[in-house]
Amino acid sequence: MESKIKIVQDKIAEAHLGGGKNRIAKQHSNKKLTARERIDYLLDEGTFEEIGMLVTHRTTDFGIEKEVYLGDGVVTGYGNINGRLVYVFAQDFTVFGGSLSETHAEKICKVMDMALKVGAPMIGLNDSGGARIQEGVRSLGGYADIFYRNVQSSGVIPQISAIMGPCAGGAVYSPAMTDFTMMVEDTSYMFVTGPNVVKTVTNETVTSEELGGASTHSTKSGVAHCTSANDVECLEDVKRLLSYLPQSNKEKPKNLAYELNDEVREKLLTIIPDNPNKPYDMHEVISGIIDEDSFFEIHKNFAENIIVGFSRIGGRSVGIIANQPMILAGVLDVNSSIKAARFTRFCDCFNIPLLVLVDVPGFLPGTDQEWNGIIVHGAKLLYALSEATVPRVTVITRKAYGGAYDVMNSKHIGADMNFAWPTAEIAVMGAKGASEIIFKKEINEANDPAAKLLEKEAEYADLFANPYTAAQRGFVDEVILPQDTRKKLIKAFSMLENKESVLPKRKHGNIPL
Ligand code: COA
Repeated sequence: MESKIKIVQDKIAEAHLGGGKNRIAKQHSNKKLTARERIDYLLDEGTFEEIGMLVTHRTTDFGIEKEVYLGDGVVTGYGNINGRLVYVFAQDFTVFGGSLSETHAEKICKVMDMALKVGAPMIGLNDSGGARIQEGVRSLGGYADIFYRNVQSSGVIPQISAIMGPCAGGAVYSPAMTDFTMMVEDTSYMFVTGPNVVKTVTNETVTSEELGGASTHSTKSGVAHCTSANDVECLEDVKRLLSYLPQSNKEKPKNLAYELNDEVREKLLTIIPDNPNKPYDMHEVISGIIDEDSFFEIHKNFAENIIVGFSRIGGRSVGIIANQPMILAGVLDVNSSIKAARFTRFCDCFNIPLLVLVDVPGFLPGTDQEWNGIIVHGAKLLYALSEATVPRVTVITRKAYGGAYDVMNSKHIGADMNFAWPTAEIAVMGAKGASEIIFKKEINEANDPAAKLLEKEAEYADLFANPYTAAQRGFVDEVILPQDTRKKLIKAFSMLENKESVLPKRKHGNIPL
């Protein structure tokens, strides 16, 4: 018996060594944790149970049969995060550069299948040189097996990808199909083809970091939803993100205990400037509304003219979408529409109520936007909000102009409660632009056209630069005092807790992609 126990103990020790001490040291010297260290950090202490520790590859080409590592470059299993079950895989860069073999893929698929069957989040920690080159198409098949499962799990269980090293070629498409991609600054990169191929094909000279580092994907492409300074911070972010989410689409996020206190927030009275053309920071409105320090921003540095993120309002998990007047006056453009549409759909999949804060002067004009398809991309947000059945509440803080008024969770597209501040201006466009069009003749024929324009502008503003015309029609349910916004929202979301709304039966809608 003793010798048999020794055998298993030796195997466990061997598996824990991955690609060996030297490669582990190299991993550390590259400022990266190992796969096992990452899992230890991510999961509650002592909760990790490994599955498939003794799996090895089956390849015999190129002499690789002489190089066999227990686990084959990926650690897979399950455990808890803050007491909640999750499934996890962590690629081990010390074994064949974390490259994906047929068996490596089988291990990942096994935990993905379990996560889907049980209904718990799936977290992938990616650190891999891509397809195991010695295996050819067998490895590519392994990727496709994973992609297929990503799609089957989409909208059923939350899927989170942390990119903590290389992620290149076909490997990028699994994270891209999960709900969130988090990247570590300086040590991770993602691209379809690397700098060498880029040089050959397009003659561009570019570094890995410029092409697909965390800063590129968090600012230019929007591929990364969050970035962190190092592995530990990235894993902390994964835990924080999970805290807002339910286990699966069958559940609602857990409400934290909360007692209705004095919810008046005087600070909200002083944020909107007197001059309607002056910007202000919508983050201040958000922090004036939510439970203290509860905002977890997604896509913080991408399409900053719209803000999206998770928060708690009276202990309840709420997704927030908010125009940001500080950037491009808060207009909707291609990127901000895509960003907000994707976030809306995630929240709707996982029963997370939505709060939309509106200060929008319209869609961004210009050839760049038109030629890049603002029509179809703007339609994504309109579509996503229109089909969202979760509780939906809107607060118009200032401008709600033109088609953007309709898009930003108006009553007409199914919002449940629509509030406006006394500073709200709900109109087809700003008073100046409107007067120049509808009173053109009168202004041109006046003795003093500039004075006439001002007079007409004031007339138009009187009629429309306020929330009352919309309130008279019931398009706004209530004009509220800014300092009461938090109280009103806590009550509205509580009232909507058991909302049920069923869409017409169909295979799936056809969102404009
Ligand atoms: N298949 C098999 N082995 C791989 C591999 C792959 N795709 N990628 C890396 N490895 C192995 C290396 O041979 C090396 O093995 P060793 O420790 O026995 O020397 C080990 O993983 C580490 O790779 P190394 O190149 O030394 O690390 P690096 O940090 O300098 O570079 C990469 C990392 C990912 C940039 C580099 O390994 C690379 O370009 N890999 C190939 C990427 C690729 O084209 N993948 C296929 C397309 S999807």
